[in-house]
Amino acid sequence: MKAKEIKTVACVGAGVIGYSWALQFALKGAHVNVYDITDEALNLAKERIHESLKLFIRNQLLTEDETKIIEGRISYTTSMEEAVRDALFIQESGPESYDIKHQMILEMEKYTSDKTIIASSTSGLLITEIAKVSKHPERFVGAHPYNPPHLIPLVEITKGEYTTEENVVIAKEFFELMGKAPIVLQKEALGFICNRLQMALYREVCELVMRGVCTIEDADKAVTFGPGIRWGIMGPSMVFQLGGGKVGIDGLFHHLESSINLWLEDMADFKEFPKEWPEIARKGVDETIKNRSKEIGNTDETLAQYRDDMLVELLKLHHML
Ligand SMILES: NC(=O)c1ccc[n+]([C@@H]2O[C@H](COP(=O)([O-])OP(=O)(O)OC[C@H]3O[C@@H](n4cnc5c(N)ncnc54)[C@H](O)[C@@H]3O)[C@@H](O)[C@H]2O)c1
Repeated sequence: MKAKEIKTVACVGAGVIGYSWALQFALKGAHVNVYDITDEALNLAKERIHESLKLFIRNQLLTEDETKIIEGRISYTTSMEEAVRDALFIQESGPESYDIKHQMILEMEKYTSDKTIIASSTSGLLITEIAKVSKHPERFVGAHPYNPPHLIPLVEITKGEYTTEENVVIAKEFFELMGKAPIVLQKEALGFICNRLQMALYREVCELVMRGVCTIEDADKAVTFGPGIRWGIMGPSMVFQLGGGKVGIDGLFHHLESSINLWLEDMADFKEFPKEWPEIARKGVDETIKNRSKEIGNTDETLAQYRDDMLVELLKLHHML
C-alpha cells in the first residue's frame, strides 16, 4: 500500500485528542469516520471541531463556506463496522489503558482490512503490548501527538516488536501528507523525545526558582524571549551551530567546554520534583497571569486564544498552514 492511497481515515475515540486528529485529517482533504461509544461523546467532538474551525476563520485562513466543506468530510458513528470498514488508516485515541485499547482492537479487527495501519495516540503505553491481542501486530505503530494535534505539527512515531519497517514508512509518509512533522523513534524511550526535553528544561526551572535565582514569571520570560523564540524557528543544535560562528557547533563546545562543565555540575539532577513544587508553581502562575494584559491573555480562556492565534502565525511562517 502507498500512503497516498489512504483516502478514508477512522478516528476511534473522539475525546480531547481524537476530535483534533479528525479535524486535522479533514483539513488535509481526507474523509474521516469518527467513532466513539456514545452519541454524547460524538456530539461533543462535533462541537469541538466546529469551535476549533472558528480559529481558522478568525485568522482568515478559511471562509465559513470552506469550513462547512471540511465539516462535511467528517462522519460520526457509534458503529465500529461503519467507522473502520473503508479506512486504510485508523488513529486510535481511546483511554490510556491496555484493557480498553485491547477491547477496541478486537472490535476493529472484526471489520478492518488486513493492510489497514493502526496508529495509537498513546502517551506512554508500549506498542508491543497494545498490539499483542492483534492478528496483525505488524501494522501497529505509535503516533504520539502534542495537544492539539491540529495545531502542533509534531508526531512521534514509535514501533512495536513486530511493526514492519514498511508500515512505519507508510505511516510517516501519510502523516507528512496530512501536514504533520513526523519523526520516528529508532528505540523505545519513556516519555518519547519531547516530553523528556520539556522535563529536562522544567527541572531546571524548578531548581532556579527553589534556589531563589528567579521567579516563575521571569523563568517563563527568559524562555519566551530568549532561546524559546529561536527554538520556534530551528532546533537547539542548529541554534548552537550558528552560536559557534565560524567554528560552528563543535567549535562552540570546545570553546565553552570548561564553563559548560561547571554549569552542568551545578544544575538540577533530582529524580523527583519536590513535594512543595505544585503549590509554588501554582502561586507563580497566578502571579504571572495577574501581570499580563488581556491582549496577550490573562485568563485561561484568553491565554488559550492568544496561544492559538500565535501558533497560527508561526505555522504560517513555517509554511505549514
Ligand atoms: N490529552 C493529551 O494531552 C494527550 C496528548 C497525547 C496523547 N494522548 C493520548 O491520547 C489518547 C486519548 O486521550 P484523550 O486525552 O483524548 O482522552 P479523552 O478521555 O478525552 O478521550 C477518550 C475518548 O475515548 C472514548 N472511549 C472510551 N472507551 C472507548 C472505547 N471502548 N472505544 C472507543 N472510544 C472509547 C471516550 O468516550 C472518550 O471520548 C490516550 O491514549 C492519551 O494517552 C493524550
